[in-house]
This record gives sequence, C-alpha cells and structure tokens, in this order.
Amino acid sequence: MTGDTGPNRVDWTSAAGNALRGEVRVPGDKSVSHRAIMLAALAEGTSRVSGFLEGEDTRATARAFAQMGVHIQAPRDNERIVHGVGLHGLAAASAEVDCGNAGTGMRLLTGLLAGQGFDTTLVGDESLSRRPMRRVIEPLARMGARIDSRDGGLPPLRICGKRELCGIAYELPVASAQVKSAILLAGLYARGETRVSEPHPTRDYTERMLMAFGWPIDFTPGSARLSGGHRLQATDVVVPADFSSAAFFLVAASIVEGSELVLCDVGINPRRTGLLQALRLMGADIVEANPRLLGGEAVADLIVRAAPLRGIDVPVELVPDMIDEFPALFVAAALAQGTTRIHGAAELRVKESDRIAVMAKGLRELGVRIEETPDGAIIEGGALLGGAVDSAGDHRCAMSFAIAGLRAPSPVQIADCANVATSFPGFVELANGCGFALHGSAD
Ligand code: S3P
Repeated sequence: MTGDTGPNRVDWTSAAGNALRGEVRVPGDKSVSHRAIMLAALAEGTSRVSGFLEGEDTRATARAFAQMGVHIQAPRDNERIVHGVGLHGLAAASAEVDCGNAGTGMRLLTGLLAGQGFDTTLVGDESLSRRPMRRVIEPLARMGARIDSRDGGLPPLRICGKRELCGIAYELPVASAQVKSAILLAGLYARGETRVSEPHPTRDYTERMLMAFGWPIDFTPGSARLSGGHRLQATDVVVPADFSSAAFFLVAASIVEGSELVLCDVGINPRRTGLLQALRLMGADIVEANPRLLGGEAVADLIVRAAPLRGIDVPVELVPDMIDEFPALFVAAALAQGTTRIHGAAELRVKESDRIAVMAKGLRELGVRIEETPDGAIIEGGALLGGAVDSAGDHRCAMSFAIAGLRAPSPVQIADCANVATSFPGFVELANGCGFALHGSAD
C-alpha cells in the first residue's frame, strides 16, 4: 500500500448520482502508449504518436527516453513526436531513471536497457518498489544480462550495460505480457533467436508494434520469436481508447438503473476484453458497435445499458484477459444477485496493490459479504452501503470504489486516490459529466 499521506494526497466522496448517459471517450491505452514511445525512440526517423495517454505512468516513460538523449516533442496534449535515435543511439542517463508507479515502464525498460552500452538505475515509487522484478531479472540473466536489485528481486534495479546478450527459448511460468515484452526487447540486442511461450496468451502489443516498426517477428497467440540484428523504422502510431479505463464505465452503467452510455474508439484486442465476456455472462447489456481498425488496432464503440446482473463463477481462462479489470468486477459482483467466485487470479496480489486484499477490505467496510482466498474471492452479491474505504494508492481500486458509491444509499468516502492520474487523468470530470456525483478533496 502506498499510504500516501504527503502533500499530494487526494480523497474522494462518491454518492448516488443520476442515470449515466452520454458519449464518453476515455484516454489512450496505457500499454500501447508505453510501447509506442519505446519503439519510436529506438527507430530510425521521426514517429508521431496520436492518442497518447497523458498519464503519469506513460509520461515517466517518455521522460526516461528524454533522459537518454531522445528528443520528444509534445505539440499538443495526447500527441508526441519522437525523433528516434536508432537501436544503438541511446545515451547514458546522467541520473537515476524514475518509472514512478509503472510496472510496465520498469519491466519493459529493464529488457531494453539490458542491451545497451551503458549502465542505468531504474527506481520507482513506494508501490513499484515492492513489486517483484525477479520475473524479468531471471530470464534476462539467462540471456547474459546483469541486473542488480534489492534483496528479494525488488527495485531499484541497476542494469549493467556492455553485456553480450544471447537469444534464449523461455517458457513463462506466469502469463505476463510485461515479462514476455522485456525478453523480446532484450532479444532485439541479442545474438541469435529469442523465443517466448506463455501458459496463456497475453496482450500482443509488443509483437504487433515491432512488426509495424519493421522488425521481422513470428508470433501466434501464446508464442513469439525474433532474432537480433535488424532495424526499427519510424512509423506513426494511433493509440486506441483504453479498454481498462472504459471498464469502469461498463460496470457503472450496468449497475445504475436507466443508464445508457456510449464509449467511443475503445480497443477491443481479445487479450484485453475478458471483462466484456464476464459481464455478459452476468447478464450485462453491452453492444460492440461500429467495429473497425484504428491505426491497425481493432476498436469499437461500446454501448452499455443498465441490466440486472447475476453472480457467476468467473471462467479461469478469462483471468489473464481481464487481469486489470478485477477491481471493477468485484463491484459488479457485489451488486449482482447471487454468488460470484473468482479463482486463478493470484497475480492480483502483486499489482499496484494487493488488489484482492484491498477490494475485499473495502467492500467489507461497505457491508458486502466477501471471503478472500489465496488466488481470488467469493463475493455474495446483493447491495452495498455507504462508508469509508481505502484505495491504498491503487488507481484501479480508487475508481472501482467510486462506482460502488453510485449504488450506495449514503456516500462512499475513498482515501488515497491521487494515483488515478497514473492511468486516467480527468476521470472525475469525465465521470461527473455523465452522471456520477464524485467530489475530490486535496490536502
Ligand atoms: C501490461 C501487462 C499486465 C497488466 C499491466 C499492463 C502490459 O501486467 O496487468 O497493467 O502493458 O504489458 P503483467 O504482465 O504483469 O500481467
């Protein structure tokens, strides 16, 4: 838990609002924005990234490359022009590189920096400093990298340069796009072929974007392979709206009677949309309208109308495809008729917070009967009450408790919400614009 009690602490109060109505465009996809900056920085030529997420996480990644000598212009919000320096054109940062709250930033950078001719130290905030990095250190060490960490494989990470990397064939022990991507990015600098296979296919943005930047790569769901020694060519990237941010509105409109929301341009990569399937199993009314390609990514406008939800056993095969959406699902489950059982989701315990513990504690404060298990939870649905909860500095827990407030008979007070800015700047304004009654207080 970050337990932010400093000057930037933000708390929220969420009360029952109106039926949710309108057309909403949530900010750009976080995963795509991180990767677009990274590959554009390493490409030859100038790339334009439109729809870039102006979140603290992705801005930290852009800052990291600026520290390493990449000229990145921001002609307007949500847009970056990246003057790539080529695969071997980065320069040593003169100070530590701060990844903020971003696990994606730190893990992908670790892979990419393992192949450089200089040393780098990556640091993060209190939450990131507690997140497991051995999962990237270990395979990268097998490739010949040297990465020093704090005891237990925790950040800060010291990534030593001037190492000869060699391709490996690696079977991921846990389904993780971050680990897969770290290995593939190191593979750009490695001699020979790098192969990764996953226990369950995860988001494939790194693979697809490498291809778009002209790097030869073979991939199918669950496996990818590439060889070192090629070049990245600049290309423009259009970032879709982030399904993970849309998720809060999908749940919110489902649970508030009379609601009808349209969420525009949402990325619907199947490796991201497990929540859509889970909500539909629960009885949600969500239509994917106007499906099309936006900058090579599948997007649609999602139309969601209120519908009575019922509890389900969340199919375990959906878990990796909805890994960031569980906090919102917990709230949907608390308001569904009947019991929802979640298992196979132990990874939730090592996200920005222990999301099983934080959501269970918060929902219990709101009168929900919920039992934590090591890899999930059993949630008795029905209703919830007002009360005080702690988001533990976790952006997705904060926004999920804001949704809970929509159905509580008295307000829900939510502590420690400042980190919502890491992934969803402008959430409060957007939410209030379509019917939430969400108020912030900053100390
Ligand atoms: C991400 C992968 C997922 C996800 C995270 C973003 C990415 O993490 O939870 O928010 O952009 O690759 P894991 O790789 O740890 O599953």
